[in-house]
Amino acid sequence: MAEDLKIAKKGTRAEKYELLTSQIEALISDESNLMANAANIAAALRQTFGFFWVGFYFVDSESELVLGPFQGDIACTRIQKGKGVCGHTWETEKTVIVDNVDEFPGHIACSSLSKSEIVVPVVKEDKVLAVLDVDSDEFADFSEVDQIHLEKIVEIFAKTIN
Ligand code: SME
Repeated sequence: MAEDLKIAKKGTRAEKYELLTSQIEALISDESNLMANAANIAAALRQTFGFFWVGFYFVDSESELVLGPFQGDIACTRIQKGKGVCGHTWETEKTVIVDNVDEFPGHIACSSLSKSEIVVPVVKEDKVLAVLDVDSDEFADFSEVDQIHLEKIVEIFAKTIN
């Protein structure tokens, strides 16, 4: 896989995801290193969409997530199960879209610039191993389009995990 990412300059967000997803697949499917793949996924998403923050939190114990590879400003290192959008996603094992982070009970504000957020669980053999967190500095920036494509991307990621 060449190291240059093709980014659709025009087109819908869905079309951009389509071009991106096949490139992510090519980039990570022959690599089994978890951190390398997580790092490239975070970078590819931020490079394509310019999101405010993109990164992973990994399950580190029965009760805690720990920060993994990300792109963006420094962020909280540890999140308790059930806390914030990430901890809630881990607990419920379902993607969460938050249009206005100030209205999400218990939202953990790593940056006051973040306005909306989507968090997708990374599931392998019915177990959540991590969550992918994408933050925007615009309100209501995420929809079902992001959910469908980000879930596909984490599914590709989960396949590379042994
Ligand atoms: N907002 C997240 C915390 C992680 S940062 O946004 C990078 C949450 O509420 O879980």
